[in-house]
Amino acid sequence: MDRKTFLKYTGTGAAFFLPPSFITSCMNFSTDTSDIYRYPLRFPDPLDSDQLRASRDDLTIAEQYTLDSLQFNGSLPGPTVRIKRGERFQVQFQNDIGQESIIHWHGMIVPPDMDGHPKDVISEGIYSYDFAINQRAGTYWYHPHPHKITGPQVYRGLAGFFIVTDEEEQALNLPSGDYELPLVIQDRKIDDAGNIYYDPSMPERMMTGYLGEHILVNGIPNPYHEVQPRPYRLRLLNGSNARIYNIAFRNEQSFTVIGSDGGLLPQPVETKELLLAPGERADLLVDFSNGFSGSSAELISKEFSVPSNGGMMGNMSQMMGGGGPEQGSEFPLMEFRIDNTSGTSSSMNLPQQLSEVNFPTEDDAVRTRRIELNMEMMTGHTINGRLFEMLRVDEEVTQGDSEIWEFVNNSAVPHPMHIHAVQFKVLSRSGNRGLHPTETGWKDTTLVMPGERVRIIIQFDAPKGLYVFHCHNLEHEDAGMMANLEIT
Ligand code: C2O
Ligand code: CU
Ligand code: CU
Repeated sequence: MDRKTFLKYTGTGAAFFLPPSFITSCMNFSTDTSDIYRYPLRFPDPLDSDQLRASRDDLTIAEQYTLDSLQFNGSLPGPTVRIKRGERFQVQFQNDIGQESIIHWHGMIVPPDMDGHPKDVISEGIYSYDFAINQRAGTYWYHPHPHKITGPQVYRGLAGFFIVTDEEEQALNLPSGDYELPLVIQDRKIDDAGNIYYDPSMPERMMTGYLGEHILVNGIPNPYHEVQPRPYRLRLLNGSNARIYNIAFRNEQSFTVIGSDGGLLPQPVETKELLLAPGERADLLVDFSNGFSGSSAELISKEFSVPSNGGMMGNMSQMMGGGGPEQGSEFPLMEFRIDNTSGTSSSMNLPQQLSEVNFPTEDDAVRTRRIELNMEMMTGHTINGRLFEMLRVDEEVTQGDSEIWEFVNNSAVPHPMHIHAVQFKVLSRSGNRGLHPTETGWKDTTLVMPGERVRIIIQFDAPKGLYVFHCHNLEHEDAGMMANLEIT
């Protein structure tokens, strides 16, 4: 079995090629999915040391597949941090990758010098992190944040889960242990020699961001995982540089969204599909004893439309898909193989009230800020007309204030906008798209489609200092679609 047996998408537009077995399974002539899902899923180990060492190494995955990649503690994805609210997190980041880096704890509210601002990069040696965990249980994550080279570092393997628990969440008795599955979804280009490669000269990089032909879940291309006929908790993270997924099951079985970027939703939300943009997380409850006929539950990215905006530029950007399936087309992610012989099917009664949440209201807001997202031929993607500058303060806010921010996407490509040091509430989206199922809860990243206007409310409670906000399409971020936010 060589690496070319991985499901790989080639060409651009709708005409990418799939193995015949995949096409027949789509047409329901066959339920044999073993050609697509060849390798067992695995999970990164828990972080069990006070050191996070980033280095470059060859890593063997799926038994015989060696990747030249970057890793935290020799693991891809990086080791999973699990920590309880009230505890302290202390770790020494050791940079052995031979270029500048710094770690950011995405979604965590920490003092500015612990946040991984790009001005704090180190080119070698150690950066010490030490902060208290004082926020809601949730699925957060960590990744590098050096200016201009975050994209390639994350792409080549540097990212991991940062999972916080608290008493409110534990009282719910959600599926845990083997029944709680953290799943990071990432698309990658892999060359014939087995290297995850990132070619900065790819023409599409500036428009769509860097896409890949292989869909990896926890580092494994299109894996399968054996499950029992019972409820599972899936913690999904879109750890891709640029690809948006529309999470769904192939048989259109509905599932329950219980959490988003900032932890549990107030109430569970039932849905059949869920858009997940780079940087976003979704906590799902899926009952494999119910709604799946046979033994296969295929998780896919379902077709969705990217609104076109900006005429020729819009069309051009859609055409420049580069590697892999076009944004918005359908392709498989992974398969759950349900062991119906285990006979221990069980279900779960989820309370209608999951979590106590107190969002600021529009009346609390002291002002509205308009954040324009533009694309110009000469400058590229900008925030309010400007590119990132390391120490220029772009937005100054007062600690304790609530503000409404209005993201307006005037460009032809989607921008998942992320703000450090806060969790916010989405108030509205223009047009008839409505809020996403995860947007009844706390968010730190929100997808702004071409032509769309998204209003959010933020309360700035983090320690005073300098943070950033940016597009989480990492190629856009690296090209300067980032700005400084100072809390004073
Ligand atoms: Cu996940 Cu500033 O990023
Ligand atoms: Cu972040
Ligand atoms: Cu963007």
